[in-house]
Amino acid sequence: MIESRPEPKLKVLVLAASLREDSVNRRLAGLAGRVASQNGATVDFASMRDFDVPSYDGDLEEAQDIPKGAQELRRRLTENDAFIIASPEYNGSMPGMFKNLIDWASRFRPQPFDGRHGLLISASPSMGGGNGGLWALRVPLEHLGARIYPDMFSLAQSHKTLVEGEIANDALRARFEQNVQSFLSLAEAAKHYPCMKRAWVEFLGQTPDLGADRVDPVAS
Ligand SMILES: Cc1cc2nc3c(=O)[nH]c(=O)nc-3n(C[C@H](O)[C@H](O)[C@H](O)COP(=O)(O)O)c2cc1C
Repeated sequence: MIESRPEPKLKVLVLAASLREDSVNRRLAGLAGRVASQNGATVDFASMRDFDVPSYDGDLEEAQDIPKGAQELRRRLTENDAFIIASPEYNGSMPGMFKNLIDWASRFRPQPFDGRHGLLISASPSMGGGNGGLWALRVPLEHLGARIYPDMFSLAQSHKTLVEGEIANDALRARFEQNVQSFLSLAEAAKHYPCMKRAWVEFLGQTPDLGADRVDPVAS
């Protein structure tokens, strides 16, 4: 008789890209993590403080290696199947300190964002909910081969819509939960049926050239 073994749970890294203790994005990340665990995933909540790094400096990299904060991000990305990032919008873009962390983490080979599924969400007191920041954040993540879910949830007017840590409007809360659940379904499918490219080449159409290529060793 074939023994039926329980499927391993989907593991999801949930990160708020804000250092603020009272961050609305941290609260939104908490809500996304709750939806994920209610849907059977194992959630690994991370704080930006786990990933503290100096400003990117190629000389520092050569002299001292990639800093511990970026090593920790790589570990958490690779130990989980997928990630959810709740990021503030700063001046119509993503927070600079988060871009700096991505730049450091991009120096590892294999490159840890490649092929990973990610969901981007945001909250802001503004009418746009920080959505412009998420479009900016998509760029480096997709450049690095992450599979960023097309639908992004941006909670506008968070000072009114987040009440005692919950999304106060029922219809809005249902949309949020559905967005997270749909993403988890795709991440679950990708875990069992990996059908996307496995190797990372920074510029696929570039003529192969050992001196200029940024290619994962598995791809060369
Ligand atoms: C430097 C700076 C720039 C900001 N720029 C924007 C912006 O372009 N769009 C926006 O919606 N909110 C902007 N805000 C407001 C943030 O969305 C708001 O402070 C939010 O609470 C930050 O996220 P957090 O609570 O998760 O830290 C900005 C805030 C700061 C500090």
